[in-house]
Amino acid sequence: MSDGLMTRVNELLSHYPADKKKSAMLPVLHAVQDAHDNWLSLGLMDKVAEILEVKPIEVYEVVTFYTMFNQKPIAKYMFEFCRTSCCALRGGEDLMEYTCQKLGVKQGETTADGMFSVVGVECLGACGFGPMLQLGDNYHENLTKEKIDTLIEDCKQGKVNLH
Ligand code: FES
Repeated sequence: MSDGLMTRVNELLSHYPADKKKSAMLPVLHAVQDAHDNWLSLGLMDKVAEILEVKPIEVYEVVTFYTMFNQKPIAKYMFEFCRTSCCALRGGEDLMEYTCQKLGVKQGETTADGMFSVVGVECLGACGFGPMLQLGDNYHENLTKEKIDTLIEDCKQGKVNLH
């Protein structure tokens, strides 16, 4: 891990008691993932365990539980469609399928150029604005096929800010 990242990690740890480093696991994992092309290798997870003074399995448990942590390289643009009931009732699954067909991938797959992937995730807490998806740190709500078309085109043209 770079010196800059370690500085960031130490700053995060400073918010917690020295004997409760484990409490910083989520922010530390986010910082480490952000600094490594948005995914966490086994080596990085082990390093986080070392820093937090926990067993590696405790880090694996967290990383494998939350969909915001990626265990393998992902596409530049990962469309995370909510597939829970409110969004599903408003056509979320159909829109996810539409997006898959448009990009020529199945759920969980990445396009050959590494630009796009489509995944289904559980409720993202924007139930009143479904169907919705998360792209980077941003939500795209009240989706339609037209909005999906525009979003994909904007991504291709580099107009979409992920943070
Ligand atoms: S059901 Fe889709 S955001 Fe909650």
